[in-house]
Amino acid sequence: MRPLDRQTVLVTGATGGLGRALVHRLAEHGARVVAQGRNEERLALLAGDVERATGRRVETVRADLASLTDVDRLAQTVLERHDALHVLVNNAGVGFGARGATREVSTDGIELRFAVNHLAAYHLARRLVPLLTSSAPARIVQVASAGQLPLDHDDPLTEHGYDGVTAYRRAKLAQVMATFDLAGDLVGTGVTVNALHPATFMDTAMVREYGQQPLSTVEEGLEATWRLVADPTLDGVSGWYFDGTEQARPDPQAEDPAARSWVRELSDRLVADALG
Ligand SMILES: NC(=O)c1ccc[n+]([C@@H]2O[C@H](COP(=O)([O-])OP(=O)(O)OC[C@H]3O[C@@H](n4cnc5c(N)ncnc54)[C@H](OP(=O)(O)O)[C@@H]3O)[C@@H](O)[C@H]2O)c1
Repeated sequence: MRPLDRQTVLVTGATGGLGRALVHRLAEHGARVVAQGRNEERLALLAGDVERATGRRVETVRADLASLTDVDRLAQTVLERHDALHVLVNNAGVGFGARGATREVSTDGIELRFAVNHLAAYHLARRLVPLLTSSAPARIVQVASAGQLPLDHDDPLTEHGYDGVTAYRRAKLAQVMATFDLAGDLVGTGVTVNALHPATFMDTAMVREYGQQPLSTVEEGLEATWRLVADPTLDGVSGWYFDGTEQARPDPQAEDPAARSWVRELSDRLVADALG
């Protein structure tokens, strides 16, 4: 990998817990950071804080990842503004929600956790692969979770018996499945893709929203994520899932090629339907 001060890094979910901490760390190391958020005020606040702390400017892009049109526009903006991209960190996510909350859907009418945690990351990565490939060596880091549940063939978008924890865990497993598939597609390109569980119940907005007592710090999740972004010993490592800093086995559904093909077809169909 190149030195960080010669890398351009796109971080989604940059205005919240882990993403925000990652943007600060990247700026401290002199990386050119493109920070995605869904709210202009929070993006301006982030850019101001980072500039005061590090003297580095952060480029911001507003996009609501619950809209695949916005995801597509985000990708297009990056492609138009940058002739290189070395790391994509798909970090944005929607958590369990409040306890007892009812099912929510994205702007495109897709179950919200599947749409933001998995589909947005899926589409963004695929749109940016040509730029990442031409910038190689490059990395894609998928911030997933150890909280995983197999997708139900008859009800992948949790239309029946909904609860936020189930929907979140299915979406996170879909993200890991997409990571394994994409790693296969990227063999020989110089672009790697890995997924991780950053840390368990970090003290962030999604954990507080669920009313869960935090069990770890954002700093712990940052260390695990930072390793996948910047550790030179992971050069060339691709298609792995990490629990923190340890290589781990995800839910067995992720290792089933037939299940992965099914989720991939479902994802392609949902993206195509949303984008028309
Ligand atoms: N917290 C944990 O213990 C834990 C454990 C395992 C995995 N993770 C994963 O770690 C990642 C970061 O989560 P976090 O803990 O830092 O939680 P967080 O503080 O709630 O951050 C989530 C981020 O996602 C963004 N986001 C949510 N919905 C969005 C949308 N529709 N469009 C664009 N951005 C959206 C949020 O934007 P706003 O700033 O505008 O709200 C925020 O920046 C997530 O993928 C999460 O699933 C977290």
